[in-house]
Amino acid sequence: MWSRRSFLQVGGALGTAAWAAKAAGGLDTVHAAAAAVGDRSPEEVAQDEFYWREIQEAFTLDRTLINLNNGNTCPSPRVVLEACKRYMDMSNMLPVQYRGDIERHLQTVRRGLAKEFGCDEDEIALTRNASESLQIVQTGLDLKPGDEVITTDQDYPRMLTTWDQRMRRDKIKVTRVQFPVPTTADDLYQRFERAITPQTKVLHFCHITNLTGQLFPVQRLSRLARSRGILSVVDGAHALAHFPFKIRDLECDFYGVSLHKWLLAPIGNGLLYVRRENIPKLWPMQAVSERQMASVSKFEAIGTYPTAIRASVAEALAFHQAIGAEHKAARLRYLTLRWANALKGNSRVKVLSSLEPGQTWGLAMVGIDGIDARALSQFMMNRYRIVINAVVGGQPPAQVFDYTGLRVTPNVYTTLQEIDTFVEAMEEAIKKGVPAATPGRGSGN
Ligand SMILES: Cc1ncc(COP(=O)(O)O)c(C=O)c1O
Repeated sequence: MWSRRSFLQVGGALGTAAWAAKAAGGLDTVHAAAAAVGDRSPEEVAQDEFYWREIQEAFTLDRTLINLNNGNTCPSPRVVLEACKRYMDMSNMLPVQYRGDIERHLQTVRRGLAKEFGCDEDEIALTRNASESLQIVQTGLDLKPGDEVITTDQDYPRMLTTWDQRMRRDKIKVTRVQFPVPTTADDLYQRFERAITPQTKVLHFCHITNLTGQLFPVQRLSRLARSRGILSVVDGAHALAHFPFKIRDLECDFYGVSLHKWLLAPIGNGLLYVRRENIPKLWPMQAVSERQMASVSKFEAIGTYPTAIRASVAEALAFHQAIGAEHKAARLRYLTLRWANALKGNSRVKVLSSLEPGQTWGLAMVGIDGIDARALSQFMMNRYRIVINAVVGGQPPAQVFDYTGLRVTPNVYTTLQEIDTFVEAMEEAIKKGVPAATPGRGSGN
């Protein structure tokens, strides 16, 4: 077992050979590091660079680039990638035998996710991403012409396109609520409440948006919906494993997530939560027999798929638990406050995310007055090798909003030096300006 002293020693005196041997320990090392700081608050641990050095070592990154676009997809830690390769090798030995074995063992993954994120294992299905999870709901609900869905202008483009297609195909009505950023939970609640009509059947909104990370009052909106006989569909793509909460406490009807974002699972993993009483009523994406209609497993009926990708969620969950949800959230917030506090005093800088406690963690947005966001993101790459995406509003059926900026999404492996380089780059841009944008780069997700 590691003590705080041995933890510090390996970081310094024992040298690179010991460091490399220790780094090879993977999850053990993360557990030991967590034990060494176990008596301190998440906010204190967030500032302990010796602890976070352990986490940084758990990834095989290209440190010649600074990745501040973890909001798109995140790299998996080494242990997760190795698990995925092992399952892939195993599956390939005799697919009909071993792929089937892995598939049966996936119940461990469902059980683990349900326990960690607070729901029952027979209310969740493993999917390929948040798009699939949410589209199962969006296309699987019985809605008739004239039925209304209320969503927002800042919901995810693919989800907006999906409702738009149902509007064209099934003649449903889609109403989009607008809101300023950052705004309050009360404001968002009131905007939805005012928009509800007798035809409203669904409220669809993000837990936090992919743009500024605006946090929605999910429980209050879900209760409002239920009190009016309306279903609540929540896009949790950026929320789960980013900051701590339990799905059952949200009280929503449906919750869709990508696990290759903040859980750090390999690309191609998602989760769908369906509140128990809604399972029999919701059509699956691919057809199943009538007797399967009552089981949540119908949402996983997609034919042959790579079980190795799915099985390695178990390792990603173990990594997440080894750090701890509270510690992870506190570190992400610490990294965000580091750049935001350094920049916000400049009168040309606009931080478009709330910096109040409990509102923002590792996803926030910033713009500079007079500088085009696309040009700024290209400058970040060309001059500082910072990977970051520009956010620019569009026209329906895409997202519509009137602000622009850079979405800054660090991760648990991000170093303070990397954050400080971003601050330096922003300061240079403010002082000297940036070259005009060249075509080819737009907003990301
Ligand atoms: C808010 C939101 N919803 C849904 C999605 C879709 O996720 P995926 O591409 O993993 O399906 C994203 C992706 O960035 C997102 O940001």
